[in-house]
Amino acid sequence: MPDPHDDLRQSAFLQAVRGEPVSHTPVWFMRQAGRSLPEYLAIREGVGMLDSCMDPALVVEITLQPVRRYGVDAAIFFSDIVLPLKAVGVDLDIKPGIGPVVAKPVRTLADVAAIPDLTPEHVPFISTAVGNLVSELRGTPLIGFAGAPFTVASYLVEGGPSKDHAKTKAMMFGAPEVWDALMRKIAGISAAYLEVQVAAGASAVQLFDSWAGALTPRDYREHVLPHSARVLQRAGELGVPRIHFGVGTSNLLGLMGEAGADVVGVDWRTPLDEAITRVGDRAVQGNLDPTLVFAPTDVMTARAAEVIEAGRAARGHVFNLGHGVLPSTDPDQLKRLTEFVQSYPLG
Ligand code: CP3
Repeated sequence: MPDPHDDLRQSAFLQAVRGEPVSHTPVWFMRQAGRSLPEYLAIREGVGMLDSCMDPALVVEITLQPVRRYGVDAAIFFSDIVLPLKAVGVDLDIKPGIGPVVAKPVRTLADVAAIPDLTPEHVPFISTAVGNLVSELRGTPLIGFAGAPFTVASYLVEGGPSKDHAKTKAMMFGAPEVWDALMRKIAGISAAYLEVQVAAGASAVQLFDSWAGALTPRDYREHVLPHSARVLQRAGELGVPRIHFGVGTSNLLGLMGEAGADVVGVDWRTPLDEAITRVGDRAVQGNLDPTLVFAPTDVMTARAAEVIEAGRAARGHVFNLGHGVLPSTDPDQLKRLTEFVQSYPLG
């Protein structure tokens, strides 16, 4: 019986995250599924974001679209960081152009206690979608993901997107027992959500702490790191490599590694060589400025070459943008970037 995972052993992505030698620098893009692709906009026509995440056929198709178009080295599961909250019954929606909006923001211990823990029975459509994807993807690894406790807490406490995360941090500083309960609750939900994806065949996971850059190192270490560490530890126990990413986290990169990451995701503001010094003996992922795809191709590829060269000093390097693909990105330019990275000689 051929093992379906045999093809994956040769995957440059999995080799790089484990710090093994690679034939080329592997590349994928955060937010590669969706937004910028015409075939995505067509298939999503008239279907709400969260409804599409709960439809396995749509999830499979949308996840595969960028793999087909770009030939990237990894697929990222099409879902959202707030989907598991929706699945356990939190009243929320994802509004186009805005993001997640929560009907009744969390303020008290009773509000936290009212959020159920996630079990596989809440998300049967996720297991189906991941299982079907893994058989379609064959040699291309699937990255599962979840939101980190701080970033998910921000949506629950603010009730929607926030620039300063003021209500969230007010809870963190002023109501430590509510904060601790909320972070524990989300950590449990995110860990369980990752476990469902890995059990169904995801080869790696990424924990998105997109808004952690709002925190000082001290507050990150005291109020956030222990909770993210619990999620990453549970993922580690499942035997898959863990990527840990945030935006504006230059001064948190060392701590984000210490939280239990095999790979630290780096946004574009920190030069990759500095990031590598900060994370020490771990792999890195990143970090081309997402707006460079709007530059002339030779300018974009010259900058991409700098990122690849800098990445060679790391234990392993996965090429990515420093944050998600912007909605107005030209897919042809992303295709050129993919081909450039994959054919860049490492010899
Ligand atoms: O390729 C992929 O990465 C696809 C899967 C994916 C989505 N969201 C789909 C999505 C992933 C990994 C996410 C993660 C996510 N969701 C994060 C962390 C990553 C990051 O960007 O920092 C965050 C903070 C969210 C919360 C969220 N969901 C926001 C801020 C938004 C943007 C609102 C908008 O319209 O720009 C969403 C909606 C969302 N999630 C869309 C997609 C494709 C757009 C909705 C649509 O197409 O209708």
